[in-house]
Amino acid sequence: MNGPIDRHAETSVPIHPLLASRHSTRAFEADFELSDEQIAALLEAARWAPSAGNTQPWRFIVARRDTPEFKRVLDCLDTGNAEWAQHAAALLVAVRVEANAKGPLSHAAYDLGQSMAHLTFQAAAEGLTVRQMGGFDADAISGEFDLPSELKPTSVAAIGVAGDPALLAESVAGPDRKPRARLSIDELVIGG
Ligand SMILES: Cc1cc2nc3c(=O)[nH]c(=O)nc-3n(C[C@H](O)[C@H](O)[C@H](O)COP(=O)(O)O)c2cc1C
Repeated sequence: MNGPIDRHAETSVPIHPLLASRHSTRAFEADFELSDEQIAALLEAARWAPSAGNTQPWRFIVARRDTPEFKRVLDCLDTGNAEWAQHAAALLVAVRVEANAKGPLSHAAYDLGQSMAHLTFQAAAEGLTVRQMGGFDADAISGEFDLPSELKPTSVAAIGVAGDPALLAESVAGPDRKPRARLSIDELVIGG
């Protein structure tokens, strides 16, 4: 199936247009380069997320395309992800801090996720798209970047400007060509 399909969320009531239009793509404009200001804005958005006790248990590895760091992150992705993520303008490794000097941070993963939600929203405001990935070798990233044991790579985000999914092989672009789906609100709310 070729041609553009509507990636907007179908919502029961209106929500913020940036939330409704945000979606994850595997197709990226291969020539697009992120500016320093755009990267700073993404990190600022993540930085100002809420966290348990304001512990801010998030750290990031940011690697622009055509840099040695990008290749180092790319080589840690599952093959299926690397195939399309190689064209992103940047790869960002989201790292949770599992413990600080006071002890374990039980909500680290939750807080890191919130910081990434802020980042993806800011990306949408910048006209950028983000596709996050769980399909990568976290131990390989830790080894490659010599991370201490309390820092755990949790996801990798491919960031850039959305390209044309029609140019990707069906096996790669499959999800981009299917309608977006969600559980209904009734299914989400426990107890009615
Ligand atoms: C933690 C996490 C891990 C994900 N892992 C992958 C992945 O390894 N490969 C991939 O292509 N997409 C991955 N995704 C993207 C999801 O498939 C996508 O967000 C989901 O299908 C909903 O689509 P939407 O973001 O367009 O609403 C991941 C997303 C998240 C948040």
